[in-house]
Amino acid sequence: KAKRKAIIAGNWKMNNTPAQTTALINEMKPLVADADCEVVLCVPFVDIPAAVEAAKGSNIKIGAENVHFKDSGAFTGEVSADMLNELGVEYVVIGHSERRTYFGETDQTVNLRTLKALEKGLKPIVCVGETLEQRELGYTETLLKFQTKMALTNVTAEQLKNVVIAYEPVWAIGTGVTATADQADEGNGFVRAAIAEAYGDDAAQGVTIQYGGSMNAGNADELTSKENVDGGLIGGASLKAHDFSVIVKAAS
Ligand code: G3P
Repeated sequence: KAKRKAIIAGNWKMNNTPAQTTALINEMKPLVADADCEVVLCVPFVDIPAAVEAAKGSNIKIGAENVHFKDSGAFTGEVSADMLNELGVEYVVIGHSERRTYFGETDQTVNLRTLKALEKGLKPIVCVGETLEQRELGYTETLLKFQTKMALTNVTAEQLKNVVIAYEPVWAIGTGVTATADQADEGNGFVRAAIAEAYGDDAAQGVTIQYGGSMNAGNADELTSKENVDGGLIGGASLKAHDFSVIVKAAS
């Protein structure tokens, strides 16, 4: 298996208060201390200060779950890259399917947010994935390549080094239905092929591509052993210290 940087990132979604954040990270710290992969927790905006504080001195990096594409201004409810940087955030999830489905996120806004994150030194974890209907119609490859290329429009080859992509089949998110390891590997392979088409093979080989969608303590080992699966973006199982640490060990 190619030696790429594997990243296990938790995506807490709308879970945990600041106090719960402190408690959970304190519980996780010793369990993931000897990880051989990068360990990231993407948490709600208001939990970020508590998360950064709790993670201090550990190998856990903190991420946000979104970032706006303007520097500042009249955008009620949004959060800027400068705000995140000042708090010590390193990663940011962009284009999660829940944002695309419930909050009007489009391929274009995903691209703009990705460009702003990169400009400001934040590492985007860009999510792509097909719905069940798209898969059944046979559009998985087309869709994944299109979403990947749209998200990376105007991203330079140099900036690409800081980009992480997460392949999250929409039908596998929070459903308990995991893609088979082969389906995950194939989906991640389509993403890598799209990057290769745009940036060349060598560049594509260096990009960390995660799988996400019902990854858990029981299936992480098999999923992350696949050639194209460089870690995972973990929802539900990242809310439990033990389960998350088992996943981190599986990817190490
Ligand atoms: O971003 C992670 C994700 O959408 C997967 O969620 O709960 O299926 O692991 P879950």
